Amino acid sequence: MTPGVLGARPVVARTREELRDALAATPRPRGFVPTMGALHAGHVSLLRRARDESASVVMSVFVNPTQFEDRADLDAYPRDLAADLAVARDAGADVAFVPSVETVYPAGASTTVDPGPIARVLEGAARPGHFAGVATVVAILLGIVAPDVSYFGEKDAQQLVIVRRIVRDLALPGSVAGCRTVREPDGLAMSSRNARLGPDDRSAAAVLHRALLAARDAHAAGTTDADALRAVMRDVVAAEPRAALDYVSAADPTTLEEARGPQAGPILLSLAAVLGGVRLIDAETVSLT
Ligand code: PAJ
Repeated sequence: MTPGVLGARPVVARTREELRDALAATPRPRGFVPTMGALHAGHVSLLRRARDESASVVMSVFVNPTQFEDRADLDAYPRDLAADLAVARDAGADVAFVPSVETVYPAGASTTVDPGPIARVLEGAARPGHFAGVATVVAILLGIVAPDVSYFGEKDAQQLVIVRRIVRDLALPGSVAGCRTVREPDGLAMSSRNARLGPDDRSAAAVLHRALLAARDAHAAGTTDADALRAVMRDVVAAEPRAALDYVSAADPTTLEEARGPQAGPILLSLAAVLGGVRLIDAETVSLT
């Protein structure tokens, strides 16, 4: 464990033993925010909510190799621990778990978590194996950290649905809190990927949020037909020549099955598009109540 200067926070734990010692010294309830680092205002909002709702806040910074299909993507993932720890400190984190790959996946580890069909649609269709990697690392981290509440962003809507499912199905510790998406002033959801957009694609990227807003407005005005809502989003994206649409979805927020026809209940609207080689996603849930 690295207590830092004069016990400065966050305490950095790199091994399971160091984390156990750090956790033993912190009170419950324990809030947990798993991240891959490259922290931005979206992550900070999760940390601050955890701070507000918990007696101690634990975060993890771990670029999880098993959720990347592409080695080059994994190698290119931004890593700046000093900057992340400064952000974590300002947001009030008590403990930062910064494990090595071998600490998370000890030699001989062979168990993986398959969340089932919900992992194979939408993002899972475009990124085979991605959600098994996410589910496996989240299960391991929740087992190690044993939080009372863990915090996940609604921007990664399918990830949030999958995390809720595995926590329920595998009786993993703690409850799961979904947190509102933090956006740039033009509506673009904050993401470490946004830095890879050139200036023209960066301005064009706000089209994802515009598509969601148009569908939300149509829904509020009485369009509850799922096909019509998908068409609204598709038309908005089609008007932006820099964006190549991957999918639009209007789905059941729990099963992620595509909705058909008029919907009385809540609908998870989501979409993915590629701009200048960068794949972006966004999502919002709409409901009549
Ligand atoms: P990462 O992309 O670092 O995101 C960590 C958490 O921050 C996730 O719950 C994500 O949904 C949330 N987040 C990201 N951008 C956000 C935004 N603009 N507004 C609100 N929340 C936002 O997601 C992962 O890491 C990994 O898959 C992980 C869960 C850590 C497993 O490896």
